[in-house]
Amino acid sequence: MSILVTGGAGYIGSHTCLKLIEAGHEVVLLDNFCNSHRSVLAGLEAIVSKAPVDEAPAKKAPVDKAGAGKTGMGKALVLVEGDVRDAGLLGQVFAAHSIEAVIHFAALKAVGESVQRPLDYYDNNLSGSLVLLKAMREAGVKTLVFSSSATVYGNPTQVPIREDAPLEATNPYGHSKLMVEGILENVCQADAAWRVARLRYFNPIGAHESGLIGENPQGVPSNLVPYIARVAAGKLAKLQVYGGDYPTRDGTGVRDYVHVMDLAEGHLKALEYLHAHGGLLTLNLGGGRGYSVLEVLRMFEQVSASPVAFEVVPRRPGDVAECWADTGAALKILGWKAQRNLATMCLDTWRWQKQQA
Ligand code: NAD
Ligand code: UD1
Repeated sequence: MSILVTGGAGYIGSHTCLKLIEAGHEVVLLDNFCNSHRSVLAGLEAIVSKAPVDEAPAKKAPVDKAGAGKTGMGKALVLVEGDVRDAGLLGQVFAAHSIEAVIHFAALKAVGESVQRPLDYYDNNLSGSLVLLKAMREAGVKTLVFSSSATVYGNPTQVPIREDAPLEATNPYGHSKLMVEGILENVCQADAAWRVARLRYFNPIGAHESGLIGENPQGVPSNLVPYIARVAAGKLAKLQVYGGDYPTRDGTGVRDYVHVMDLAEGHLKALEYLHAHGGLLTLNLGGGRGYSVLEVLRMFEQVSASPVAFEVVPRRPGDVAECWADTGAALKILGWKAQRNLATMCLDTWRWQKQQA
């Protein structure tokens, strides 16, 4: 299949592109690089060609700003540099490539920032999805995998969280995801030809085992594991543990961490399912168990053999004590279950971190 991947240069998108290419699909990667780096292409190419990154031709290949750019991976990966809100560009992309399905990652994703800049979040996440859906309809492409988030469960009333748990938005980011989920439901109700998966990710961490692609947040990370990795690498002094008085086994917050490569594999399975069955699919993608902040920290210290200094500070506003997924539906429907454990997640993050300047 030829698959359009919006936001394909980002953290989850890049790992998913790799899996798609490895499975023999042709990828059209559309990204405006507002939260990613062109260097991810060199990493992808090095992995695909199994060449050392320095020898990867993508490093030298020019990126064609006008549209489809050469990536050194031929038809396996075509880069379109642009914005998902650009209807004209999307029309060109659908006209130029025989796209059969779309995976829509492109979005802004920082919860705190969404509170400060709500209009930017609604514009990017909501308008971006609307423009994309209309372009898909015009092109007759009706298969879509959408990146949703566990944030749609708001403050969960019980764990593990099932897909039929109450939904709630506690910030503009979460609201934008909930709204797009609702729009997708309406679209599927109106036209049975649509095949849509709404995948609710829990806490993706880790990196490709090569260490050549990974999560590269701009500035100081706000998420736990990228922050811990930088403390272990000596780039940040110490971790602030937000709250030591939660009703959890050690008082720190419990989350469901899932390896980004497991997540990438989940997207492939979702596409296969949609291809075979159609309909509207809504699934949690998580590891299916919770780890506390201190458990993650200790594991990271172990695999990196580096101390991670920390201090316990007051709770972060908006955080919940525990959030982890019931992943039974993904197993039953897709046959998908996260395979990589916390040690692997931390080790792969560490391998990636060590390669960063
Ligand atoms: P990311 O920021 O690394 O990737 C998003 C990519 O989209 C970036 O490359 C960015 O440049 C691009 N982008 C953003 N707006 C764009 C636009 N208007 N046009 C074109 N490209 C645009 O984020 P990620 O962690 O890979 O997340 C991917 C998706 O998964 C997002 O929709 C996010 O909300 C969702 N999600 C992420 C997490 C997480 O913890 N990482 C959890 C739940 C859901
Ligand atoms: C956050 C977002 C969520 C988003 C996810 C992935 C909020 C409220 N939720 O989830 O919508 O999908 O990121 O991008 O922002 N922690 C520390 N110190 C730190 C950082 C985190 O103690 O410096 C703790 C947190 O309190 C939490 C755990 O580590 O208990 C995980 O935090 P984080 O990685 O930010 O993810 P979430 O808060 O679960």
